[in-house]
Amino acid sequence: MADKVVLGLDIGTSRIKFAEARMTRGGPVITNAGIGMTPRDTIANGVIVDPGTLGSAVRELLSAHGVGTKQVISSVASQSALVVRPIELPRMTTEELEDTMKWEVDRHIPFAASEVVMSYQPLIPPEQLPEEATNMEVLLAVAQEDMIEAHVQTLFSAGLNPIVLDVEPLSACRSLVDIDRDRGAYDSTYALLNIGATTTDLSIMRNGLLSFTRAIPLAGDNITNAIAEALGYEFHEAERAKTEEGTVYVEGAPALEAPRTAEPTPAAEVGPPPPLEAEPPPLPEVEPPPPLESDEGPGKVFDLGADTEPAGPPPEKEPAPPPLPSIHKPTSGSPARQVYDAMLPTLGELATEIRRSIEYYVNRYPDSGVDKVLLFGGTARLPHFAEFIGSEIGLATVVGNPFQRLTIDQSNVTVDIVEDDACYMPIVVGLAIRDMLE
Ligand SMILES: Nc1ncnc2c1ncn2[C@@H]1O[C@H](COP(=O)(O)OP(=O)(O)OP(=O)(O)O)[C@@H](O)[C@H]1O
Ligand SMILES: [Mg+2]
Repeated sequence: MADKVVLGLDIGTSRIKFAEARMTRGGPVITNAGIGMTPRDTIANGVIVDPGTLGSAVRELLSAHGVGTKQVISSVASQSALVVRPIELPRMTTEELEDTMKWEVDRHIPFAASEVVMSYQPLIPPEQLPEEATNMEVLLAVAQEDMIEAHVQTLFSAGLNPIVLDVEPLSACRSLVDIDRDRGAYDSTYALLNIGATTTDLSIMRNGLLSFTRAIPLAGDNITNAIAEALGYEFHEAERAKTEEGTVYVEGAPALEAPRTAEPTPAAEVGPPPPLEAEPPPLPEVEPPPPLESDEGPGKVFDLGADTEPAGPPPEKEPAPPPLPSIHKPTSGSPARQVYDAMLPTLGELATEIRRSIEYYVNRYPDSGVDKVLLFGGTARLPHFAEFIGSEIGLATVVGNPFQRLTIDQSNVTVDIVEDDACYMPIVVGLAIRDMLE
């Protein structure tokens, strides 16, 4: 394992993110990391439609950062062509489960597809279930084969060698929660919120097991579109206004002046996001984390994720959340105020959807409250967004930083990536260190 170097790659609708990790005797070290723009029209509804162009963009990004590593672990998101969901089954042996899953899978595919790739993992291995348990939970991932093939083709066209395909929620849980299990992270329930460009992914990790996922089709692009509509801007102008002027204000709090670093790159223009459903869809439910491995070679590996080992040491109770900062609105008529006013209805809608999804989870599993919300994805760069979400949903909310417990080799990793852009990186760091955590 020592000297093993792996690249984690997240190809988002708006941006491509990567992190490289090297396994050393002292643990994983992050040796490179970066962000680039996803070329327009290469991804539609979360599915890659132009692997050639996208592969070239990945290759250029990696070469611009001097990355020579070819071994890559990439991830797919829970969108239109992938379901990641914990399902409940009667208790059975590993062999029985293998048979059952062949049939079970049909009941869980919400998309039309004749060819699917499936992976599953019991949350708790059958032989470790408590004696009295009559049921067991299994994390299921099913993806359209075409979607997986387009992803793998993109990696090949970037000149990479895919080792495994993981799913986003498990990757992020690894770098934000698993990594802290020696500090009692498995004694709490975390809601991870990945707010990207087109989708907000909610994943709830309870006692170290991925217990619930839901994809909300409302995210950064909707905020940009709201600004474009209110101020009569083109999408790219609205995107610039959002990243340069956008700040969120928490009513009733004291003034803030957010030091901000401008997002250097203009955002790619993307199609209008799908309309938000009035009622939350019939949930993808609970999940726990497991990985799936296969030796069939690149392209056939669809991996669910991590080990299911129960956590380590003593539960230290989370300290009480710090009081919310008071944040005043900017002067009426100022550009910041115009952008804020334009964003507010969409931000409110997003907070409502998040709150309803978390409420659904809490109602369904009344013995499990949510202790803390970890926010990430590019939209988490919006200043004071975590405070806003926290105050809207009434839960302690912070921006997740996957670098906190890792050693960083600063020769190829900029301070910006580790600080301001850390919110982009939980997935790629989780992918790169996938097989490096104890
Ligand atoms: N400073 C900022 N303020 C507000 N939003 C920002 C800022 N910087 C980046 N964003 C937004 O972050 C989003 C991109 O984040 P991210 O890379 O996580 O998305 P993605 O993975 O490409 O999208 P998806 O996961 O939906 O496919 C864009 O909508 C962009 O406008
Ligand atoms: Mg994303």
